[in-house]
Amino acid sequence: MVKVTILFSSVLGLLCSLNVSAKTEYTGDIINGHKVISKLDVSDFPLNTLTKLWLQMPRQVNGQAYQVPVIVAKGKQDGNRFLMNSGIHGDELNGIRVVQRVLHDIDLSKLNGVVVGVPGANVNGMYESTRWISNKENSGSYVNLNREMPGEPNKGSFGQRYAAHLWSNMYGINNFTVVCDFHTTSTSGTYPNFVYANLSTPYGYRISELTGADVVKIDLGVTAPGSVQSAFGKKGIPSITYEIGNGKFWQKDQIQRGYDYSFRQIADLDMYPATTDLAKIETYEKQRKNIYYGNELLDTKVKTGGFVELYANPMDIVKKDQIIGTMFDVFGSKVEDFYPKADGLILSTNVNPLITAGNFIVTLIRNSTDPACINGC
Ligand SMILES: *[C@@H]1O[C@H](CO)[C@@H](O)[C@H](O)[C@H]1NC(C)=O
Ligand SMILES: *[C@@H]1O[C@H](CO)[C@@H](O)[C@H](O)[C@H]1NC(C)=O
Ligand SMILES: *[C@@H]1O[C@H](CO)[C@@H](O)[C@H](O)[C@H]1NC(C)=O
Ligand SMILES: [Zn+2]
Repeated sequence: MVKVTILFSSVLGLLCSLNVSAKTEYTGDIINGHKVISKLDVSDFPLNTLTKLWLQMPRQVNGQAYQVPVIVAKGKQDGNRFLMNSGIHGDELNGIRVVQRVLHDIDLSKLNGVVVGVPGANVNGMYESTRWISNKENSGSYVNLNREMPGEPNKGSFGQRYAAHLWSNMYGINNFTVVCDFHTTSTSGTYPNFVYANLSTPYGYRISELTGADVVKIDLGVTAPGSVQSAFGKKGIPSITYEIGNGKFWQKDQIQRGYDYSFRQIADLDMYPATTDLAKIETYEKQRKNIYYGNELLDTKVKTGGFVELYANPMDIVKKDQIIGTMFDVFGSKVEDFYPKADGLILSTNVNPLITAGNFIVTLIRNSTDPACINGC
């Protein structure tokens, strides 16, 4: 009986270990010259290769599947693994260009380890030029993929399954060392160069520094549960949400900052030689010294619809008795003045003048003195 149990548990153990070392699964399809996979395991790619693939998502109403583009750069020898994700919100496009440029320019003969780039994770959101992914059941509904991680592949709506497919067939099974999820503001908002980083993790502060961002939100992950960042954070893998500017643009300056960060990041992980370009080094040192760290975000929201004239811009230092916007009705009569919720720095503004009840006008960032906020609230 004892022997049988031992045999049984070792068979189980073998099965489990087989399960853990997932292999890349090829569906046999080729689209636009690139192979389609249903699971990615970068450990079975040969050294010194750059591979472009499609990761197949769950099927939609018509039985067809969205295919997520993936680029795998494997260096001349093994090493750490860096994931660059982008476009999980379909109207946030700057990060897609960062991924394209980094994976185009990377020199495999200098790379140790693996860089995986996802140039646009939310295929449906890009079709529809929106942040969301749409479910087509009944009269339809929307899902925020960046609140559904890690998810369960066979449960919930189409959007929830899509998120879980990304996680369980790619993000969550490749033993990444560090993860950067590139975002921007949503349509009609503005952002500077801005990072959400969990400074409580051992490498968290260092990553935030490497970005050289204008602003860092000290963030335990409570702002966005179910985000890519927080799902990796829970596994103990250092990760950031990197907001590089505004939605629906390709802003070359913001893209350049994301690009330079990515190369600093892989250099810091001993995956790549550090840049020797003195101008780049000098720019970065200046940026690093000027990062504004804050632990709390405060939105000024409107209670009714109307037109808002703004008197503040991102990166303005403001006082809480300072008017930052005024609402007018359709006849041009003043409805109300708006103030920031506290003294601090303007992080984001809503540039669409025509807004509705519950919309934000500005988001302010500051350091709350509440001890519960020290690591972010
Ligand atoms: C994951 O990567 C680390 C190095 O980054 C390595 O030490 C570890 O063995 C890897 N684990 C697996 C399961 O591949
Ligand atoms: C942030 O870091 C702390 C300390 O490592 C960890 O306990 C927590 O789960 C992390 N949270 C997220 C969302 O990354
Ligand atoms: C906010 O607090 C952090 C320490 O938690 C500090 O490093 C940072 O300089 C503070 N930021 C501001 C704007 O005072
Ligand atoms: Zn986003």
